[in-house]
Amino acid sequence: MDRARRLLLLGLCLALGLWGVMVHAEGIRENCTEICPENSFCVNATHCTCQSGFKSLTEALYFLGDSDVCDDVNECTVPGPPKCDSNKQCNNFPGGFNCTCILGFTAEPGKENFTNTSGTVCQDIDECVTLGHDVCGPNATCINIPGSYNCVCAVGYQADPSKENFMGSNNNTCQDVDERCCCALLASLKLQLFGAFY
Ligand SMILES: *[C@@H]1O[C@H](CO)[C@@H](O)[C@H](O)[C@H]1NC(C)=O
Ligand SMILES: *[C@@H]1O[C@H](CO)[C@@H](O)[C@H](O)[C@H]1NC(C)=O
Ligand SMILES: *[C@@H]1O[C@H](CO)[C@@H](O)[C@H](O)[C@H]1NC(C)=O
Ligand SMILES: *[C@@H]1O[C@H](CO)[C@@H](O)[C@H](O)[C@H]1NC(C)=O
Ligand SMILES: *[C@@H]1O[C@H](CO)[C@@H](O)[C@H](O)[C@H]1NC(C)=O
Ligand SMILES: *[C@@H]1O[C@H](CO)[C@@H](O)[C@H](O)[C@H]1NC(C)=O
Ligand SMILES: *[C@@H]1O[C@H](CO)[C@@H](O)[C@H](O)[C@H]1NC(C)=O
Repeated sequence: MDRARRLLLLGLCLALGLWGVMVHAEGIRENCTEICPENSFCVNATHCTCQSGFKSLTEALYFLGDSDVCDDVNECTVPGPPKCDSNKQCNNFPGGFNCTCILGFTAEPGKENFTNTSGTVCQDIDECVTLGHDVCGPNATCINIPGSYNCVCAVGYQADPSKENFMGSNNNTCQDVDERCCCALLASLKLQLFGAFY
């Protein structure tokens, strides 16, 4: 090998070495903060990891760059003990969940915001009190039941057979038992007369 060739080779080696160092430096400088996908963050400027409440498609805890995506975990449907206990419903949202009382139930005062089973107790609402006792209309009685209420006719009054248990004064068909008796009697009398004419 002559001098010129040796120099050329040396130059080549130097160039290659420098290129390697530069690539290496580039690798370190590459900050994953800007390339981590949505709902993830960069760890040690090298790896992406999903935010809490999200899971990567491959279920990898750490992944490189945009090689994976982070999807919401539906905490309300994951197997295991229920997230919200009796008289509560679970609400999933991106990155988390909460519990709220089901219709007809209310949280203890000041504890309306809770995310777990021990957050609060959901107590039955006494609609006969909150809606007022005349919610059922005249000659009827309000009866509170878990999550709701029922109306029944007061003693001495009777509703249409299909509306013996009703809600709201609009559905009140309570009539004096004697009146009902008369109406029925009149109706049957009419029918008899009607029948007699034809
Ligand atoms: C981040 O750096 C810490 C400390 O060097 C190390 O323990 C950890 O394993 C690294 N995590 C990742 C995902 O590279
Ligand atoms: C990565 O970039 C973010 C903002 O783009 C910056 O806050 C952070 O300090 C950088 N980290 C490293 C290790 O360069
Ligand atoms: C519950 O959270 C909502 C929004 O997150 C807030 O507007 C409300 O005031 C909170 N209620 C209580 C009782 O802390
Ligand atoms: C619970 O989550 C639902 C669904 O995202 C939301 O509409 C509601 O405001 C949340 N309630 C509280 C008390 O944070
Ligand atoms: C559940 O909520 C209660 C009240 O907010 C809190 O004290 C408790 O640490 C929570 N438990 C869990 C497992 O998150
Ligand atoms: C039935 O309702 C009417 C109208 O509200 C009322 O005048 C009457 O006293 C009621 N009867 C009884 C037995 O409560
Ligand atoms: C009571 O009336 C409302 C309409 O005013 C109706 O939607 C509801 O189904 C009725 N309920 C009963 C038990 O009759």
